[in-house]
Amino acid sequence: MLAASGYLFSELAACSPAAYHVFKTEIVNNHVEIPLTEFAQSSLQFVRPNGWYYDIAVQKKADNSYEALLLQCTHQSNQLVPNGNGYTCSLHGSQFNKDGDVTKGPAEKPLKHYPVTVNQDKLSIQLKS
Ligand code: FES
Repeated sequence: MLAASGYLFSELAACSPAAYHVFKTEIVNNHVEIPLTEFAQSSLQFVRPNGWYYDIAVQKKADNSYEALLLQCTHQSNQLVPNGNGYTCSLHGSQFNKDGDVTKGPAEKPLKHYPVTVNQDKLSIQLKS
């Protein structure tokens, strides 16, 4: 039984949509911050505010601006996973590009964007206006 539950756990972990590095952080005054050094290795980072079910994808663009997208499918709220060119929903197959626009339905609406500002050595994402 113990071996069976261990097998089940490893199978679930393998299926986890968060099989990529996620920067977990506290929400302070409706903001989360991520050190800019996180972008040294990759221009795409993932942030999980504490207590949230969904990650936020933060893309550093060629002009050094940043774009933050909530990885919540706009069809029926499933978690999205990165696919190299954007994000995929495993529930009904919707796909979104790196800007959060729908490239394949059934989703019809783009992903939610959050305002982003850079403060010295940190990037700040405003979760609520
Ligand atoms: S919940 Fe994502 S396509 Fe349906």
